[in-house]
Amino acid sequence: MSWVSDYQYTCLQKIAFHALQLSGLIPHHIAFVMDGNRRFARSKHIDKIEGHSRGFSKLADVLRWCLDMGIREVTTFAFSIENFKRSNEEVEGLFNLAREKFSKLLEESNRLDEHGIRIRVIGNIELLPADLQRLIATAMLRTERNDKLFLNVAFAYTSRDEITQALESVLKDHNDDDDDALQPTDINERLLEACLYTRHSPPPDLVFRTSGETRLSDFMMWQIKSSVLYFTNVLWPQITIWNFMAGIVAYQRDRCRIEDYKREERLHSAQLAKSSDFYSLRVQKFLHKMDANRRKLLIALASN
Ligand code: FPP
Ligand code: MG
Repeated sequence: MSWVSDYQYTCLQKIAFHALQLSGLIPHHIAFVMDGNRRFARSKHIDKIEGHSRGFSKLADVLRWCLDMGIREVTTFAFSIENFKRSNEEVEGLFNLAREKFSKLLEESNRLDEHGIRIRVIGNIELLPADLQRLIATAMLRTERNDKLFLNVAFAYTSRDEITQALESVLKDHNDDDDDALQPTDINERLLEACLYTRHSPPPDLVFRTSGETRLSDFMMWQIKSSVLYFTNVLWPQITIWNFMAGIVAYQRDRCRIEDYKREERLHSAQLAKSSDFYSLRVQKFLHKMDANRRKLLIALASN
């Protein structure tokens, strides 16, 4: 199964799809919490790993719909750090699925180039087995020149860990004796935000969670303060294009209500930018160095 499916639309689906594109704003960035794979597996009397595998096939459909809808960024929660607490059998099964899918991605990378898809794995990938780290790093480097659709796969991810890692990046750089190093006055919300894994992404406009759970499960907690949240009872492997479109309609409806709030937020960010040292040369140098170090780490992992 490829990362982008060859989904065949029915006539009615095509009409509804275009009507939605014409009727209102399409979210720039959608984040998916793909929940309910094991309940799906139980209901079909299949193994839970087969449930996760069907979940991946659904992700390939969803990516096709997002590409065709004109969505530019997709983030998907594939493996939480909390999932390490599941049985060894399930964790290993999920890693094997990821090994299979990232290997497939490298085989069909030309197809991703055609669609202009860039893969970024967000998470603490050093917690993963070395061979999986290598595959992930290779996939990220292989697609780094693509810029039509950004696919962020959250793997070994929680928000708390992401924020902790961001803080660590800042503290590692702090050195009283070095004028080029970050100073306490440089530390503000925007600096921490710039150190998150999602440093190069706008916040999600819409968070879409399946399976009837209305928790956020430590997913993008920093980034989603003004995102529209959409919850559906359908289990992830069973979502249809109609469920997907219902999420877009909910976004188009709720977005008008949060527009005032967003305007205030933009004003607040502008004030923060003025009052802080965020754009100082020192901070810019630090961010540049951090990006270079993150890329160096990927190159090292890919060649391990
Ligand atoms: C949540 O359902 C789903 C997961 C923990 C795994 C999701 C992973 C995939 C769909 C495969 C993605 C793989 C790649 C390489 C992107 P659950 O297990 O919590 O099910 P439940 O809520 O019914 O118990
Ligand atoms: Mg679950």
